[in-house]
Amino acid sequence: MEQTLFIIKPDAVGSKCSGRILEMVENAGFRIIELRMFQFDSKTASEFYAMHKEKPFFNDLLTFVTSSKCIACVLEKENAISDLRTLVGETDPSKSPPATIRRCFGTDIQMNAVHASDSMENAKREIDILFG
Ligand code: CMP
Repeated sequence: MEQTLFIIKPDAVGSKCSGRILEMVENAGFRIIELRMFQFDSKTASEFYAMHKEKPFFNDLLTFVTSSKCIACVLEKENAISDLRTLVGETDPSKSPPATIRRCFGTDIQMNAVHASDSMENAKREIDILFG
């Protein structure tokens, strides 16, 4: 069965949306295999988001994700990576279809409520970083 990494980011944890987000995830057929509340430190966040190192938003992204606690889950389902990306929606919540997690709970392109792995390779890498 395919696994993927899912993170509820500081904005959504802080606004007490975690329960409703996890309910959407479970209702969409995902099984929560692992779950952990944690706070990114700068080193782990830099490693986790290494592919965005050269992007203009990288420093702001690190400040945001290290600002307070996140909830990380390993989720399992057939076709988990692609199906979770569909449930999560676009990076920009305002461009996400209705009933996606980011449309329901995101604020803007940075504070977009959640993260979902974008490939099998990244799912494995991200699960190793946070649960290895
Ligand atoms: P995520 O899917 O976790 O992957 C990278 C994150 O960087 C993204 O969600 C947003 O939180 C943030 N991000 C992506 N694009 C931008 C952007 N153009 N401006 C600011 N933040 C961004």
